[in-house]
Amino acid sequence: MITGGASGIGLEAAKQFLEIGAKVIITGRNQEKLDAAKKLYPGLIAIKSDVANAEDAISLFNQVKALGGIDILYNNAGVGVLPFNLGIADDRHLEGATYEININYLSVIRLNNLFLDMLKSRKESAIINTTSILSYVPSLLEATYSATKTALAFYTKSLREHLRIADSKVKVFELLPPVVATEMTASRNGKKISPEALVQGLITGLKKDQYTIRVGDTKVVYMLNRLFPKFAFRLVNPKKADKFLQ
Ligand SMILES: NC(=O)c1ccc[n+]([C@@H]2O[C@H](COP(=O)([O-])OP(=O)(O)OC[C@H]3O[C@@H](n4cnc5c(N)ncnc54)[C@H](OP(=O)(O)O)[C@@H]3O)[C@@H](O)[C@H]2O)c1
Repeated sequence: MITGGASGIGLEAAKQFLEIGAKVIITGRNQEKLDAAKKLYPGLIAIKSDVANAEDAISLFNQVKALGGIDILYNNAGVGVLPFNLGIADDRHLEGATYEININYLSVIRLNNLFLDMLKSRKESAIINTTSILSYVPSLLEATYSATKTALAFYTKSLREHLRIADSKVKVFELLPPVVATEMTASRNGKKISPEALVQGLITGLKKDQYTIRVGDTKVVYMLNRLFPKFAFRLVNPKKADKFLQ
């Protein structure tokens, strides 16, 4: 089951998982987008569900249970808000951060908690959490978004170890995309990889049980940030980006 699977990386993942023989459930908030995805790939099961809504999550769990359950919970749904300068007081800072942290971080904990016993009951199962290249180095243009991804990355590492301590075989993967060409990054110029290439990297990582899946430039930024953190910071935040925050 892929949350936020009606567009972007999630839809591409749905396509590639279907191609390798998986049964795929996608979720999203927008019925029209879900219908369009289903039209494109009739094998999909599409369920309208907002990950940030507790009642939706319980209803989703019950619908999935009635369908026979899932082996992989792929937490993909994510959002980012417009860039603001956090150094200039504005009510929108808290509004935006609340929206992002609810969807990008707290909802992942909610869904994992709901589905954990189901996943534990399967012969082989996994959780995939989508963090970001920005969980290593914050983007000044996506400041509170970057913070949600670091929170999710720390949670993911702990969840993996907690499951090990609890003697569970549920695998926990962390997918760290670089900049990917989707609606989320449509207003941005610069280097982007295709959703297709990202999902190919994801599936290769899953097949190899590589729990931390860094794709493309994420590998470069990860290494640079360990050796030359100031350089990595400037690479992610070129000076020219400052004008958006003035
Ligand atoms: N694109 C990048 O460069 C990039 C880089 C690093 C990490 N990521 C992460 O990768 C994931 C996918 O990003 P993307 O680029 O594919 O973004 P996208 O094109 O904006 O797609 C996000 C999807 O999530 C759904 N969604 C958003 N909020 C939701 C909610 N509350 N409940 C259910 N579904 C929700 C959206 O559909 P509805 O609005 O219809 O619900 C949409 O289908 C996100 O977690 C993002 O943070 C992306």
